[in-house]
Amino acid sequence: QTGMFTYDPGFTSTASCESKITYIDGDAGVLLYRGYPIEQLAEHGDFLETCYLLLYGELPTAAQKADFDYRVTRHTMVHEQMNRFFMGFRRDAHPMAIMVACVGALSAFYHDSTDISDPQQRMIASMRMIAKMPTLAAMAYKYSIGQPFVYPQNDLDYTSNFLRMCFAVPCEEYKVNPVLSRALDRIFILHADHEQNASTSTVRLAGSSGANPFACIAAGIACLWGPAHGGANEAALKMLEEIGTPDRIPQYIAKAKDKNDPFRLMGFGHRVYKNYDPRARIMQKTTHEVLNELGIKDDPLLDVAIELEQIALKDEYFLEKKLYPNIDFYSGITLKAMGFPTSMFTVLFALARTVGWIAQWSEMIEDPSQRIGRPRQLYTGAPKRDYVTLAQRG
Ligand code: SDX
Repeated sequence: QTGMFTYDPGFTSTASCESKITYIDGDAGVLLYRGYPIEQLAEHGDFLETCYLLLYGELPTAAQKADFDYRVTRHTMVHEQMNRFFMGFRRDAHPMAIMVACVGALSAFYHDSTDISDPQQRMIASMRMIAKMPTLAAMAYKYSIGQPFVYPQNDLDYTSNFLRMCFAVPCEEYKVNPVLSRALDRIFILHADHEQNASTSTVRLAGSSGANPFACIAAGIACLWGPAHGGANEAALKMLEEIGTPDRIPQYIAKAKDKNDPFRLMGFGHRVYKNYDPRARIMQKTTHEVLNELGIKDDPLLDVAIELEQIALKDEYFLEKKLYPNIDFYSGITLKAMGFPTSMFTVLFALARTVGWIAQWSEMIEDPSQRIGRPRQLYTGAPKRDYVTLAQRG
């Protein structure tokens, strides 16, 4: 008994909502975007096709795809004043800190797409977010390494444009590697949406108050940053680097199983998947493709990751708790091989997840029954009592 309420320890905040966008069967390890298996979308389509599907519910025809690609491409540049916004950061600022700030600041630049009651303005805001995330992400990377910003080049496809903005320098010709671009585009597809995860729920809750879309996406980026969520890809790579060699794996497995040790195997376990995360399988295959393309025959981090997975998947603790690799387990190895620093891994996750956040936000805004989100609580504090003056308190 806690005064006014009977405390029910079994109570968990299982607030749920209805959505037509993404379906997960955590026990079977199934992930569908608008009914299409993630494996097929990753195999046959590109990221902007997945964006169209998540936003509009159907795969685009050739004409619709061409029009959508064109509309996104028209918004890839950011306001020139944004460059000065970047200059206020220290060079060693974490790129996620910059992204939270810059994406939120977009609402200061684009007053013609903040009225969420206007479908046209919502559509423009959606295009702007999807189009500008790669530009802002590349700017955050360039700023952190002291290189000049590279403007988008709109005759390139979405992901090639992003790679060029990240890795091109004024003093030499930059040629996009099509194999790496296709691999990164597939990685974006894997990260595009994932039902009501913590950051998507944050975006929905922020949006339910009528806040403008740029501010809502900034809230989602902030939530994704946590190591239990999108920050796990950065944490997983750091864990693999700390383990270093396969012979050191047992001690980390023991730490992960020790209830008194806060250490968890990063990139393992999931709130919903109690089976192998289907994205992790595709991620592992993509890792091998990228390392092969780059001529990296023997990546010690990959050796540790594969050995760690094999040991964990035979360990009764992990089997009993149903802990399997999730999307973050292999992604860091791939992104590091592509040339991205660990600080950029979650930025890339946010870049890809922006379309999922926008699609889920739009679905909520367009629902006529939608009201402001207001989770309730079970009060477990002090019962009602009268004030005691300072003198009486001794
Ligand atoms: C993402 O929600 C989404 O969809 C997220 C995401 C998306 O696309 O948006 O999929 C992206 O965030 C993937 C998850 C990335 N995070 C990590 O890899 C960090 C490491 N994983 C854990 O911190 C953990 O698995 C969570 C946070 C992901 C889930 O934590 P829960 O909800 O506590 O997991 P659970 O209920 O399944 O745990 C069951 C048991 C618990 O022990 P008991 O309380 O039963 O004794 O397993 C333990 C947990 O303590 N456990 C782990 C573990 N994960 C869970 N033990 C060791 N290592 C782990 N990684």
